Amino acid sequence: MAGIQEMTKAALPAGVAVRALSPALGAEVRGLDLSVPLDRETVGLVRGLLYEHCVLLVPGQSLDEAQQVRFGECFGTLGRTLGTFDILRNVHPSIMYVTNEKADGKYIGALPDGEMFFHSDKCYVEHPCVATMLYAMQVPSSGGDTLFANQYKAWDALPEAMQRRLEGLSAVNTYEPGGIDTYATPISKATPSPTAFTWAHPVVRTHPGTGRKALYVNRLMTEYIVGMPRAESDALLESLFDHQEQQAFIYAHKWTPGDVLIWDNRCVLHARSNFDAGEARKLRRVTVDTEDLLQ
Ligand code: SIN
Repeated sequence: MAGIQEMTKAALPAGVAVRALSPALGAEVRGLDLSVPLDRETVGLVRGLLYEHCVLLVPGQSLDEAQQVRFGECFGTLGRTLGTFDILRNVHPSIMYVTNEKADGKYIGALPDGEMFFHSDKCYVEHPCVATMLYAMQVPSSGGDTLFANQYKAWDALPEAMQRRLEGLSAVNTYEPGGIDTYATPISKATPSPTAFTWAHPVVRTHPGTGRKALYVNRLMTEYIVGMPRAESDALLESLFDHQEQQAFIYAHKWTPGDVLIWDNRCVLHARSNFDAGEARKLRRVTVDTEDLLQ
Protein backbone atom coordinates (compact mmCIF):
# COMPACT_ATOMS: atom_id res chain seq x y z
CA MET A 1 0.00 0.00 0.00
CA ALA A 2 3.01 2.32 -0.38
CA GLY A 3 1.20 4.32 -3.08
CA ILE A 4 -1.42 5.39 -0.59
CA GLN A 5 1.10 6.83 1.85
CA GLU A 6 2.88 8.70 -0.92
CA MET A 7 -0.37 10.38 -1.86
CA THR A 8 -0.97 11.85 1.58
CA LYS A 9 2.30 13.71 1.31
CA ALA A 10 0.95 15.49 -1.77
CA ALA A 11 -0.81 18.83 -1.34
CA LEU A 12 -4.46 18.68 -0.27
CA PRO A 13 -6.98 19.31 -3.08
CA ALA A 14 -8.40 22.82 -3.14
CA GLY A 15 -11.05 23.32 -0.49
CA VAL A 16 -10.04 20.26 1.61
CA ALA A 17 -8.76 20.87 5.15
CA VAL A 18 -7.54 18.39 7.76
CA ARG A 19 -7.18 18.92 11.51
CA ALA A 20 -6.39 16.57 14.38
CA LEU A 21 -9.35 15.58 16.58
CA SER A 22 -7.28 14.83 19.69
CA PRO A 23 -3.69 14.17 20.79
CA ALA A 24 -4.55 10.44 20.90
CA LEU A 25 -5.84 9.83 17.37
CA GLY A 26 -8.36 10.98 14.80
CA ALA A 27 -8.59 13.70 12.14
CA GLU A 28 -11.44 15.75 10.78
CA VAL A 29 -11.55 16.17 7.01
CA ARG A 30 -13.58 19.12 5.74
CA GLY A 31 -14.44 20.05 2.20
CA LEU A 32 -15.51 16.63 0.90
CA ASP A 33 -18.93 15.81 -0.52
CA LEU A 34 -19.36 12.05 -0.17
CA SER A 35 -22.68 12.04 -2.02
CA VAL A 36 -20.74 12.18 -5.31
CA PRO A 37 -17.99 9.78 -6.45
CA LEU A 38 -14.46 10.76 -5.31
CA ASP A 39 -11.64 10.82 -7.83
CA ARG A 40 -8.68 8.43 -7.48
CA GLU A 41 -6.38 11.06 -5.95
CA THR A 42 -8.88 11.98 -3.29
CA VAL A 43 -9.51 8.31 -2.45
CA GLY A 44 -5.73 7.83 -2.09
CA LEU A 45 -5.55 10.88 0.12
CA VAL A 46 -8.39 9.72 2.39
CA ARG A 47 -6.96 6.21 2.68
CA GLY A 48 -3.54 7.63 3.56
CA LEU A 49 -5.13 9.88 6.19
CA LEU A 50 -6.84 6.85 7.72
CA TYR A 51 -3.47 5.07 8.02
CA GLU A 52 -2.00 8.16 9.63
CA HIS A 53 -4.81 9.12 12.01
CA CYS A 54 -6.66 5.77 12.52
CA VAL A 55 -10.08 7.52 12.71
CA LEU A 56 -11.50 10.03 10.22
CA LEU A 57 -14.48 12.31 10.69
CA VAL A 58 -16.14 13.80 7.60
CA PRO A 59 -18.88 16.10 8.92
CA GLY A 60 -21.87 17.70 7.20
CA GLN A 61 -22.87 14.85 4.87
CA SER A 62 -26.28 13.87 3.52
CA LEU A 63 -26.06 10.28 2.28
CA ASP A 64 -28.48 7.62 1.14
CA GLU A 65 -27.58 3.93 1.45
CA ALA A 66 -26.07 3.67 -2.04
CA GLN A 67 -23.89 6.74 -1.52
CA GLN A 68 -22.58 5.42 1.80
CA VAL A 69 -21.87 2.02 0.23
CA ARG A 70 -19.99 3.71 -2.61
CA PHE A 71 -17.80 5.67 -0.17
CA GLY A 72 -17.19 2.45 1.82
CA GLU A 73 -16.08 0.72 -1.37
CA CYS A 74 -13.31 3.31 -1.76
CA PHE A 75 -11.55 1.39 1.03
CA GLY A 76 -12.14 -2.19 -0.15
CA THR A 77 -14.75 -4.93 -0.30
CA LEU A 78 -17.67 -4.47 2.06
CA GLY A 79 -18.91 -7.12 4.44
CA ARG A 80 -22.46 -8.40 4.53
CA THR A 81 -24.48 -8.14 7.70
CA LEU A 82 -24.89 -11.30 9.73
CA GLY A 83 -28.59 -11.34 8.96
CA THR A 84 -29.50 -11.57 12.62
CA PHE A 85 -30.20 -7.84 12.84
CA ASP A 86 -32.23 -5.46 10.73
CA ILE A 87 -35.80 -6.51 10.79
CA LEU A 88 -36.16 -4.06 7.91
CA ARG A 89 -35.50 -6.46 5.08
CA ASN A 90 -35.27 -4.02 2.22
CA VAL A 91 -31.89 -2.62 3.24
CA HIS A 92 -28.71 -2.99 1.18
CA PRO A 93 -26.99 -6.29 2.21
CA SER A 94 -23.88 -4.42 3.41
CA ILE A 95 -25.85 -1.94 5.55
CA MET A 96 -26.63 -2.37 9.21
CA TYR A 97 -28.66 0.14 11.18
CA VAL A 98 -27.37 0.75 14.70
CA THR A 99 -30.58 2.07 16.20
CA ASN A 100 -33.03 1.86 19.08
CA GLU A 101 -35.94 2.55 16.71
CA LYS A 102 -38.84 0.11 17.08
CA ALA A 103 -41.63 -1.14 14.83
CA ASP A 104 -44.51 -3.11 16.34
CA GLY A 105 -42.69 -3.03 19.67
CA LYS A 106 -39.53 -4.67 18.27
CA TYR A 107 -36.14 -3.18 17.57
CA ILE A 108 -35.62 -2.78 13.85
CA GLY A 109 -31.82 -2.58 13.97
CA ALA A 110 -28.75 -3.70 15.89
CA LEU A 111 -26.95 -2.69 19.10
CA PRO A 112 -29.94 -0.57 20.17
CA ASP A 113 -29.32 0.82 23.63
CA GLY A 114 -26.85 1.20 26.42
CA GLU A 115 -23.14 1.37 27.03
CA MET A 116 -20.78 -0.84 25.04
CA PHE A 117 -17.36 -1.86 26.33
CA PHE A 118 -14.30 -1.43 24.13
CA HIS A 119 -14.03 -3.93 21.30
CA SER A 120 -12.85 -4.44 17.72
CA ASP A 121 -15.49 -5.37 15.15
CA LYS A 122 -15.62 -9.05 14.11
CA CYS A 123 -12.53 -9.98 16.16
CA TYR A 124 -14.26 -13.35 16.66
CA VAL A 125 -13.85 -14.51 13.03
CA GLU A 126 -10.75 -15.64 11.13
CA HIS A 127 -10.61 -12.48 9.00
CA PRO A 128 -11.99 -9.56 11.04
CA CYS A 129 -13.14 -6.51 9.11
CA VAL A 130 -10.43 -3.93 8.54
CA ALA A 131 -12.57 -0.83 8.94
CA THR A 132 -16.03 0.29 10.09
CA MET A 133 -17.98 3.35 9.00
CA LEU A 134 -20.93 4.97 10.78
CA TYR A 135 -23.13 7.74 9.41
CA ALA A 136 -25.16 9.62 12.02
CA MET A 137 -28.87 10.11 11.27
CA GLN A 138 -30.40 10.76 14.71
CA VAL A 139 -28.48 11.33 17.93
CA PRO A 140 -29.57 11.73 21.57
CA SER A 141 -29.23 15.13 23.26
CA SER A 142 -26.46 13.76 25.49
CA GLY A 143 -24.46 10.52 25.77
CA GLY A 144 -24.27 7.83 23.11
CA ASP A 145 -20.77 9.03 22.26
CA THR A 146 -18.46 6.65 20.41
CA LEU A 147 -15.01 6.38 21.98
CA PHE A 148 -11.85 5.32 20.15
CA ALA A 149 -8.65 4.00 21.73
CA ASN A 150 -5.34 4.03 19.82
CA GLN A 151 -3.79 0.57 20.11
CA TYR A 152 -0.49 1.52 18.46
CA LYS A 153 0.03 3.89 21.38
CA ALA A 154 -1.15 1.26 23.85
CA TRP A 155 1.45 -1.20 22.50
CA ASP A 156 4.25 1.37 22.31
CA ALA A 157 3.62 2.41 25.93
CA LEU A 158 4.00 -1.11 27.35
CA PRO A 159 7.28 -1.85 29.14
CA GLU A 160 9.68 -3.88 26.98
CA ALA A 161 9.49 -6.85 29.35
CA MET A 162 5.70 -6.95 28.88
CA GLN A 163 6.03 -6.62 25.11
CA ARG A 164 8.42 -9.61 25.11
CA ARG A 165 5.96 -11.58 27.26
CA LEU A 166 3.08 -10.88 24.85
CA GLU A 167 4.89 -11.55 21.56
CA GLY A 168 3.77 -14.93 20.21
CA LEU A 169 0.68 -15.19 22.48
CA SER A 170 -2.83 -15.62 21.05
CA ALA A 171 -6.17 -14.86 22.67
CA VAL A 172 -9.64 -16.26 22.00
CA ASN A 173 -12.38 -13.77 21.07
CA THR A 174 -16.04 -14.78 21.26
CA TYR A 175 -19.39 -13.36 20.22
CA GLU A 176 -22.78 -14.94 20.46
CA PRO A 177 -25.38 -13.25 18.19
CA GLY A 178 -28.34 -12.26 20.30
CA GLY A 179 -26.83 -14.08 23.25
CA ILE A 180 -25.94 -11.16 25.45
CA ASP A 181 -28.33 -8.68 26.98
CA THR A 182 -25.81 -5.93 27.51
CA TYR A 183 -22.67 -4.93 25.69
CA ALA A 184 -21.23 -3.61 28.92
CA THR A 185 -20.65 -7.14 30.23
CA PRO A 186 -17.50 -8.98 29.16
CA ILE A 187 -18.34 -12.00 27.03
CA SER A 188 -16.09 -14.18 29.19
CA LYS A 189 -18.73 -13.99 31.91
CA ALA A 190 -21.17 -15.79 29.60
CA THR A 191 -20.98 -19.43 28.57
CA PRO A 192 -20.60 -19.50 24.79
CA SER A 193 -23.00 -21.84 23.07
CA PRO A 194 -22.15 -23.98 20.00
CA THR A 195 -23.64 -21.19 17.87
CA ALA A 196 -21.15 -18.61 19.13
CA PHE A 197 -18.51 -17.23 16.81
CA THR A 198 -15.04 -17.72 18.26
CA TRP A 199 -11.50 -17.27 16.95
CA ALA A 200 -7.98 -16.92 18.38
CA HIS A 201 -5.83 -14.02 17.17
CA PRO A 202 -2.33 -12.85 18.13
CA VAL A 203 -2.38 -10.50 21.13
CA VAL A 204 -0.17 -8.10 19.17
CA ARG A 205 -0.56 -7.75 15.41
CA THR A 206 1.44 -5.88 12.79
CA HIS A 207 -0.68 -3.61 10.61
CA PRO A 208 -0.03 -4.61 6.98
CA GLY A 209 -0.32 -1.03 5.71
CA THR A 210 1.81 0.84 8.25
CA GLY A 211 4.09 -1.90 9.60
CA ARG A 212 3.29 -0.74 13.16
CA LYS A 213 2.38 -3.08 16.01
CA ALA A 214 -0.98 -2.75 17.75
CA LEU A 215 -2.43 -4.48 20.80
CA TYR A 216 -5.34 -6.72 19.79
CA VAL A 217 -7.37 -7.75 22.84
CA ASN A 218 -10.53 -6.10 24.18
CA ARG A 219 -12.68 -6.09 27.28
CA LEU A 220 -15.95 -7.01 25.56
CA MET A 221 -14.97 -10.06 23.57
CA THR A 222 -11.53 -11.40 24.51
CA GLU A 223 -12.04 -14.45 26.66
CA TYR A 224 -8.69 -16.03 27.50
CA ILE A 225 -5.07 -16.38 26.39
CA VAL A 226 -4.39 -19.68 24.67
CA GLY A 227 -2.28 -22.14 26.69
CA MET A 228 -2.16 -20.05 29.88
CA PRO A 229 -3.69 -21.11 33.22
CA ARG A 230 -7.08 -19.36 33.48
CA ALA A 231 -6.29 -17.32 36.60
CA GLU A 232 -3.03 -16.04 35.08
CA SER A 233 -4.81 -15.29 31.79
CA ASP A 234 -7.62 -13.40 33.57
CA ALA A 235 -5.13 -11.28 35.52
CA LEU A 236 -3.00 -10.52 32.46
CA LEU A 237 -6.01 -9.60 30.31
CA GLU A 238 -7.49 -7.40 33.03
CA SER A 239 -4.24 -5.45 33.29
CA LEU A 240 -4.07 -5.11 29.48
CA PHE A 241 -7.70 -3.89 29.31
CA ASP A 242 -6.96 -1.22 31.93
CA HIS A 243 -3.77 -0.23 30.13
CA GLN A 244 -5.30 0.04 26.64
CA GLU A 245 -8.28 2.14 27.83
CA GLN A 246 -6.22 4.96 29.35
CA GLN A 247 -7.48 8.48 28.65
CA ALA A 248 -4.19 9.33 26.91
CA PHE A 249 -5.08 6.89 24.10
CA ILE A 250 -8.75 7.94 23.71
CA TYR A 251 -10.82 10.29 21.57
CA ALA A 252 -14.54 10.47 22.49
CA HIS A 253 -16.78 11.55 19.61
CA LYS A 254 -19.98 13.50 20.26
CA TRP A 255 -22.17 12.90 17.25
CA THR A 256 -23.91 15.50 15.11
CA PRO A 257 -26.36 14.29 12.43
CA GLY A 258 -24.52 14.17 9.09
CA ASP A 259 -21.22 13.01 10.62
CA VAL A 260 -19.45 10.17 8.85
CA LEU A 261 -16.80 8.40 10.92
CA ILE A 262 -14.54 5.66 9.63
CA TRP A 263 -11.98 3.83 11.75
CA ASP A 264 -9.32 1.17 11.27
CA ASN A 265 -10.18 -1.87 13.40
CA ARG A 266 -6.60 -3.16 13.15
CA CYS A 267 -5.23 -0.41 15.37
CA VAL A 268 -8.29 1.09 17.12
CA LEU A 269 -10.80 -0.17 19.68
CA HIS A 270 -14.17 1.52 20.03
CA ALA A 271 -16.80 1.75 22.77
CA ARG A 272 -20.06 3.59 23.39
CA SER A 273 -21.17 5.67 26.37
CA ASN A 274 -24.62 5.19 27.85
CA PHE A 275 -27.60 7.32 26.81
CA ASP A 276 -31.28 7.76 27.58
CA ALA A 277 -33.12 4.87 25.93
CA GLY A 278 -36.13 7.16 25.55
CA GLU A 279 -34.25 9.26 23.00
CA ALA A 280 -33.80 8.19 19.39
CA ARG A 281 -30.34 7.17 18.18
CA LYS A 282 -29.85 5.99 14.61
CA LEU A 283 -26.59 5.41 12.75
CA ARG A 284 -26.03 3.58 9.48
CA ARG A 285 -23.06 1.20 9.41
CA VAL A 286 -20.95 -0.53 6.78
CA THR A 287 -17.80 -2.58 7.36
CA VAL A 288 -14.86 -3.05 5.03
CA ASP A 289 -13.94 -6.73 5.07
CA THR A 290 -10.85 -6.65 2.88
CA GLU A 291 -8.69 -3.74 1.87
CA ASP A 292 -8.34 -3.73 -1.91
CA LEU A 293 -5.45 -2.16 -3.80
CA LEU A 294 -6.18 1.36 -4.95
CA GLN A 295 -7.52 1.14 -8.51
C1 SIN B 1 -20.55 -0.44 17.19
O1 SIN B 1 -19.86 -0.92 18.07
O2 SIN B 1 -20.44 -0.82 16.01
C2 SIN B 1 -21.55 0.64 17.53
C3 SIN B 1 -20.95 1.85 18.11
C4 SIN B 1 -21.96 2.89 18.49
O3 SIN B 1 -23.16 2.63 18.51
O4 SIN B 1 -21.54 4.02 18.79
